Amino acid sequence: MTAHDLALFKELVRQRSGLQFEAMAESSLMLALKKRMMANQGELPSAYYVRLLGNENEFDELVSLLTINETYFYREPKQLDLLINQLLPDLLAKGRGLPLRILSAGCSTGEEPYSIAIALLEKFGENAGKMVTIIAGDIDQHALRRARHAHFHEYAFRGMPPALRERYFSYVPGQGYQLDARVRGMVEFHSLNLLATRLPARYVDFDIVFFRNVSIYFDAPTRRNIQHALYAAMRDTGCLVLGSAETLANDLGVFHLVEEGGQFYFSKDENRPKPALHAVKLAVPPVLKKAKPPLVATPLPAKAHVPAAPVRLTAPGEWAENLEAVRGLIRAKQHAAALERIAFLRLSAPTDAELQLLESYVLLQTRRFAEAAALAQQVLARDNWSVEAMMLLGFVAKWQDDPNAAIGHFKTATYTRPDCWPAHYYLGRLLQDTEAAKARREYRTALLQLESNPDPDGGLRLPLDLPVADIRFLCERRSSAVAGRT
Ligand SMILES: C[S@@+](CC[C@H](N)C(=O)[O-])C[C@H]1O[C@@H](n2cnc3c(N)ncnc32)[C@H](O)[C@@H]1O
Repeated sequence: MTAHDLALFKELVRQRSGLQFEAMAESSLMLALKKRMMANQGELPSAYYVRLLGNENEFDELVSLLTINETYFYREPKQLDLLINQLLPDLLAKGRGLPLRILSAGCSTGEEPYSIAIALLEKFGENAGKMVTIIAGDIDQHALRRARHAHFHEYAFRGMPPALRERYFSYVPGQGYQLDARVRGMVEFHSLNLLATRLPARYVDFDIVFFRNVSIYFDAPTRRNIQHALYAAMRDTGCLVLGSAETLANDLGVFHLVEEGGQFYFSKDENRPKPALHAVKLAVPPVLKKAKPPLVATPLPAKAHVPAAPVRLTAPGEWAENLEAVRGLIRAKQHAAALERIAFLRLSAPTDAELQLLESYVLLQTRRFAEAAALAQQVLARDNWSVEAMMLLGFVAKWQDDPNAAIGHFKTATYTRPDCWPAHYYLGRLLQDTEAAKARREYRTALLQLESNPDPDGGLRLPLDLPVADIRFLCERRSSAVAGRT
């Protein structure tokens, strides 16, 4: 595929879905295009481009390979509290007729709208179903199918209190956790492209719109267009909730920014409580591109959005959300954007270990090995037990073709955290050719640990996003292959 072909596809995908692929992420677009061209009898780029233009189903298939569907139950529970304890009661007090209409825009595999339904059931009991209509939309048809199917794996519950899983899900061997019919009945899933010139007719009259962790993938003009579309789809008192780490970066002059009980959201209604200036400062977003800081009467010069003095992001939840946003960017392979956010966060906490580890990981991905290793060493100097730092040093050594050093680092990681399956797996790979019996033992241990912890990050605070099924398969196969040679 030529650079010209790629540029054409990039533009088509951007125009029709809003998804963008900066240099670093081009490889994911290329990979997805290759997969789809193969699925279409090995079509050439020019023929596949024509197919995409005229065939919506094919476009859906491609988009499904490009979207980032990361989500989980009870993500940002404070925002669920805001919904249940402030926004809904307010609307009811204003005499808004039932049912109230809630939209989850960019709902992915359904964890967000189902969490809303569960939180409502918890608060209002069986009446909840009559109080609200919950509509959930996404551009990714595969994600929507999974959402309707409503079977979830262990990892989707990492933010949800276990008692709620007990109450609303039943375990089906081999299929994961099946959601209760009561909750499923409360949510309607439909196709939604937020970039469409006009949203489908059912997307109207919303009281509350959740639009969380979607805007992060779009540039500012696209985000503004989407906000206009959502504005038009909402009632006059409507409220818009974004992920807490992305809210302030989305104060684009379309909605009014509101703060209630430390939570920020947007409202169509200008009479809602305005945020206090100090609160806005504390929650300065992890984005450098904001054109106009909120609530400052006189616009500041172009670069004044970078605070002169460090701003401490004090609230622990807020810091965690900022780090999660960085992880999201890394998972999306938007390394330049991730580094930009890290640089901003560093102003506030220059030696935060978690941030340094994430930075080291991005540097590793961008092949800046010396810097990646230096940061990991810094963390290790302060915390001898940082398995993440050991893993990073192992990766650096491995990528720089220094297997002995890599073996040393991964070994230390396995001693420090015996349940860290990625450490066993990488150690197995490195030992495979020289110490077959030991390699087999490492693969076996990795398999064993994978059984109880199939987390693609291996339980580490790094977004490793490892292909668990492939690794399981490889471990099984390679342990026997190695055994055959011994
Ligand atoms: C990271 S998930 C967020 C899921 C959920 N809102 C949450 O916060 O957990 C982002 C979702 O946005 C969807 N998305 C991306 N572009 C979209 C578009 N143009 N219209 C509708 N949905 C889109 C993706 O398919 C993906 O499922």
